[in-house]
Amino acid sequence: MKILSIESSCDETAAAVIENGRKILSSVVATQVEEHKLYGGVVPEIASRRHCESINGVVKEALCKADSDLSQLDAIAVTYAPGLIGALLVGVNFAKGLSLSTGLPLIPVHHLRSHIAANYLAHKELEPPFLCLVVSGGHSHIVEVKDYTDMKIIGRTRDDAAGEAFDKAARCMGMPYPGGIHLDKAAENGNENAYNLPLPRVSDSEYDFSFSGLKTAVINQIHNSSQRGEEINVNDMCASFRKAVTDSLMKNFSKAADDLRYDTLVLAGGVSANSLLRKKADEFARTTGRKCFYPPISLCGDNGAMVGSQAYYEYLAHHIADMGLNAAATMNIEKNYGI
Ligand code: KG4
Ligand code: ZN
Repeated sequence: MKILSIESSCDETAAAVIENGRKILSSVVATQVEEHKLYGGVVPEIASRRHCESINGVVKEALCKADSDLSQLDAIAVTYAPGLIGALLVGVNFAKGLSLSTGLPLIPVHHLRSHIAANYLAHKELEPPFLCLVVSGGHSHIVEVKDYTDMKIIGRTRDDAAGEAFDKAARCMGMPYPGGIHLDKAAENGNENAYNLPLPRVSDSEYDFSFSGLKTAVINQIHNSSQRGEEINVNDMCASFRKAVTDSLMKNFSKAADDLRYDTLVLAGGVSANSLLRKKADEFARTTGRKCFYPPISLCGDNGAMVGSQAYYEYLAHHIADMGLNAAATMNIEKNYGI
């Protein structure tokens, strides 16, 4: 089954053609990041406008690279939630138009489910059930993936998402948006024990996260140093911050894996590109006899391929939309479309 999939939830306009949920026939991503960098973050109105300008060309290129035309497709898939509402609407309306004109089924895909599915493209042997740490710019969840379309959140962030925390800390240290990748690189040359940052705790839940205090701790240390007429060592601060965030993520994720007896662990979302998080997850899996999977770097960020992968399983579960499909800025990952 060949699915044309479209993603426009944030600042990448992307499309792909995916076969049977597992094989990438083409994947095209047009990023707007250089423009949003000027403002230190994504400007929703600009994002929507750029999606409008790019989407036709991106979809055409995805079809062309897959050596396909619309008549060879079996379905159209699109990210419908969660994300920036104006940005999502561009993809959703484009997909509805294609579905209406071709008569092909329209498959709505949850953005975080698609981040998880990025792993199916890279690891053909991976099948649910597994425990997944979904860490992106907008969300941080520990999710039981019981089946391809049956998920249960067991832990979530109470404030900032992990990616948001990385970006805010990086910004305090003068790095461009999105700062997570720059902070990760700088941390490679730093001493992770140089600065004492608190290990975030949430008192009434063993699996929930909190990252806003860490960001405040970084700001305070920068201010205290400048009041003493000193400069912080950026590499050391990045390394200390990265350690604090990844320790916090892994503490809860490993406890959940032990408590719920999962022996397959999966990382997903933009922050799964973090080199220390990948290393710690690997180490935990190796020392406890578990398997650990994460996407290749090219599939960690937003892309259309992951949408086409998840769409295949949504289609098999009959989660198909009609022309009444609407986008939504927020949506629980547990919710199946139409149910
Ligand atoms: O999943 P994603 O591409 O978009 C959302 O759905 O939010 O995630 C983007 C987030 C950004 O906050 C970005 O800074 C972060 O992922 N990120 C990283 C790294 N690469 C991307 N954070 C830490 N280390 C990285 N290497
Ligand atoms: Zn994303």
